[in-house]
Amino acid sequence: MLLNGKTAIVTGSGSGVGRAIALRFASEGAQVVCADLRLDWAKETVRQAESAGGTAVAVECDVADEPSVAHVVDGVPDRLDIIVNNVGIATPRPGLKLEEHTGEDFERLVAVNFRGVFHGTKHGIRRFKEQGSGGVILNTGSVAGLVGWGGSVYGATKGAVHQLTRAAAIEGAPFKIRANALAPAGMPYTNFAAGFGLSGDVDALARQVGAQHPLGDPITAEDCAEAAVYLCSDRAANVTGVLLPIDGGYVAK
Ligand SMILES: NC(=O)c1ccc[n+]([C@@H]2O[C@H](COP(=O)([O-])OP(=O)(O)OC[C@H]3O[C@@H](n4cnc5c(N)ncnc54)[C@H](O)[C@@H]3O)[C@@H](O)[C@H]2O)c1
Repeated sequence: MLLNGKTAIVTGSGSGVGRAIALRFASEGAQVVCADLRLDWAKETVRQAESAGGTAVAVECDVADEPSVAHVVDGVPDRLDIIVNNVGIATPRPGLKLEEHTGEDFERLVAVNFRGVFHGTKHGIRRFKEQGSGGVILNTGSVAGLVGWGGSVYGATKGAVHQLTRAAAIEGAPFKIRANALAPAGMPYTNFAAGFGLSGDVDALARQVGAQHPLGDPITAEDCAEAAVYLCSDRAANVTGVLLPIDGGYVAK
């Protein structure tokens, strides 16, 4: 029970990485606020958490909308311990080159992937400072924000998330506020790939993606959730400003 008695907001917890994190947090004793644009998906995460004996609530939230994020942060009664800013959307069309992005494509990627994480980080820090005894921020970045991986604007938003995380770690440190980021490689089994129009044989895609990793396997949402539990627990009390690749060794090549 590494998160016993802690309250955590997890954005994008209606699917994929966010759902896996919410379920693992609940299994470690956290009370989890499952925030998602899709309230019905968040409610399904809550159902799964509760059926495993955990405690969770679902709230509707659009991370691109600052008042919506502030509302979720302020809606936590008593104390907020952890905020996981996990929402990210994919490059809107497969194989989209930098010069093919429309202004609208750019604005949407930045609004959700960067401004969304900014909103969660900002209001998390505000709430933690009001409470006065520290707090933990975990942002979901990407390997695409560490190396040139494809998805130029998407990757740039993730690079921005990484840099914002480091800044939050430095500014938050005097207040015992920690901030880290996960940087996963491609995870074919979430709903993310469908977001940029990839469909068909997901197992074949997983084998193809996994073959690019030195360890040879595709990354799963559960891999990210294990790292999230550690980084958000008191066991990582002296760990901040870290961008942790969850990538089977991809960026170490
Ligand atoms: N799947 C991958 O290949 C991959 C690789 C590296 C990093 N990531 C990152 O991991 C994170 C999670 O991705 P995933 O694979 O679980 O995706 P997913 O599509 O399965 O889940 C994303 C969730 O975010 C929610 N969401 C979307 N827009 C929202 C908004 N504006 N406000 C609130 N909720 C919103 C969706 O409803 C969904 O429940 C993202 O930040 C993504 O960029 C994914």
